[in-house]
Amino acid sequence: MTLSTTAPVAWLDPASIALIRANFAMIAGDADGFAADFYARLFTLAPQVRPMFGNDLAEQRAKLVRMLSMLIAGLDRPEQLAGPLANLGQRHAGYQVQSHHYAVVGAALLDTLAARLGAAFDDAAHTAWATLYGGVAATMQRCFAAAA
Ligand code: HEM
Repeated sequence: MTLSTTAPVAWLDPASIALIRANFAMIAGDADGFAADFYARLFTLAPQVRPMFGNDLAEQRAKLVRMLSMLIAGLDRPEQLAGPLANLGQRHAGYQVQSHHYAVVGAALLDTLAARLGAAFDDAAHTAWATLYGGVAATMQRCFAAAA
C-alpha cells in the first residue's frame, strides 16, 4: 500500500487556517470542557458508540485535545500530517471504527464548535472546520477503514 504524500488538508487556504486557529484559541482556555461537551454531544447523537469508549473519559479528552492542537499547529505543513493521521486511522480501525461513524463524529464536532463559539462560528468558520474534518477523516480512512 502506498500512502499518499499529497497534503491531507492542502485545500485549506490561509484565510481558513487563520479562522480555525482563531476559533481554537477561543476554546483553548477551557479545552477539557470543550472535549467534555464534544463527547456529551457525540453520545447524544449516537448512544450506540458509547460502549466503544472506556468508562474514564478524562484521558481520552486529553488525547483528543493534544491531537487537535497538533493538527491545528501543523495546518500549514500538511505534508507532515499525513503519516500521523494514517497511523491514527490504523489505530481507529483497531477500535472497530467504521466509515459511517466518521459522519456522526464530524456532526458532534461542528455542533460543539457552534455551541461554544456562538457568533464567531460564522459560515466561513463552519466551512473551514468542515473542510478540515473532511480532510482528516478521509486521510484516516484512506487505507485503514475497518471492515463494515
Ligand atoms: C477526525 C477524526 C478523529 C480524531 C482526530 C480522533 C482522535 C482520537 C485520538 C487522539 C484518540 C486517542 C488514542 C489514539 O491516539 O489512538 C482516539 C481514540 C479513540 N477514538 Fe477517535 N478520533 C477520530 C474519529 C473517531 C471516530 C469516528 C470514532 C468512532 C466512534 C472514534 C472512536 C475512538 C475510540 C473508540 C477510541 C479509543 C477509546 C479508548 O481507548 O477507550 N474516533 N481518537
